[in-house]
Amino acid sequence: MAFASVLRSTPRLASRAAPQIARTSARRGYASGPAQAKSNNGLLFGALGAAVVGGGLYFYARPDPNDQRTIKDAASPKEVDYQAVYNAIADSLEDEKYDDGSYGPVLVRLAWHASGTYDKNTGNGGSNGATMRFAPEANHGANAGLEKARAHLEPIKKKFPEITYSDLWTLAGVCAVQELGGPYIPWRAGRKDGNVENCTPDGRLPDADKGADHIRNIFYRMGFNDEEIVALSGAHALGRCHTDRSGFDGPWQYAPTTFSNEYFRLLFDEKWQERKWKGPPQFENKTDKSLMMLRTDMALVTDKAFKPTAQKYAKDENAFFSDFSKAFSKLIHLGVPTAQLSEPVPLKKIEDQAPATA
Ligand code: HEM
Repeated sequence: MAFASVLRSTPRLASRAAPQIARTSARRGYASGPAQAKSNNGLLFGALGAAVVGGGLYFYARPDPNDQRTIKDAASPKEVDYQAVYNAIADSLEDEKYDDGSYGPVLVRLAWHASGTYDKNTGNGGSNGATMRFAPEANHGANAGLEKARAHLEPIKKKFPEITYSDLWTLAGVCAVQELGGPYIPWRAGRKDGNVENCTPDGRLPDADKGADHIRNIFYRMGFNDEEIVALSGAHALGRCHTDRSGFDGPWQYAPTTFSNEYFRLLFDEKWQERKWKGPPQFENKTDKSLMMLRTDMALVTDKAFKPTAQKYAKDENAFFSDFSKAFSKLIHLGVPTAQLSEPVPLKKIEDQAPATA
């Protein structure tokens, strides 16, 4: 299995290079201006390569200070060794007893659902706050099953108590994408944890049994365009649907713990038919009926505007990786006032931390 080979090629913690300390900005406030340039900016960017961290972060979050749900009180960001947190998460991903052998997919879903509540018109919701810790939001139907992801990260939070939950959840999503073979994702620290009154109302995340109009309504509200919607949907290369969570059933591709463009290739190369079963409406592949697509996935093929981008990603994995990196990075910073965010934090893949051999 491809996943096994990814893991096998992963050096263990012992061989990891000394992690870098990233300093978060101690600035407070909720202004929406761009972060001030720092002298070490070039250094940080250089560490990952401009191609990796360039783009995708220059957007403006405008929380309404009069809105009850705006995050007001949280601890100041502190100095955290984010690479050490990353490494601890990376080391925790593999578990033969869980699903397809990795917690990665459900951690990506946690980062996405924590962020995808953002409303660009009011500025509330988004990854700032980690409000899914509280009962109203934790119990939203769309979040079923994510308690497993949150519980999985608890030991990491205990080990690194100074990181906020909202930084931890988004960092875990980045770690999962990168460690399962995906592209580097630019990430900044500085999210603050909110309170129960910061919870967003139910209904902000997409319904899987709807079509292109619904998808656009949901993602345009977050500030995404059609190309970004298609790129983000490619995350369904990872993981599976669970009958005891969403009610849907099955994985989208044969190697669900490997991040790739397989989701797009299969969308076009397989023939998809409605599955006849007692569960909610979903599609199955004709070849062996072991794979699934949601109605929202099929909209990427049937909608005239989505289709060319999906076709491009099916043929060109580099294009998908590059666009996904920018769109996912944008997603996980939604709703975080720019003044609160640190400079981009280089988070190296484990395989890139192996010490150079003589
Ligand atoms: C139209 C948009 C979307 C819909 C309707 C949708 C729906 C779903 C559903 C129904 C599941 C199955 C949950 C379960 O039963 O465990 C799922 C899983 C998943 N979704 Fe999405 N999703 C959408 C967009 C996204 C985006 C934008 C991302 C990330 C960028 C994402 C990442 C994932 C991942 C990684 C899983 C697998 C989780 C696991 O294996 O536990 N999805 N999604």
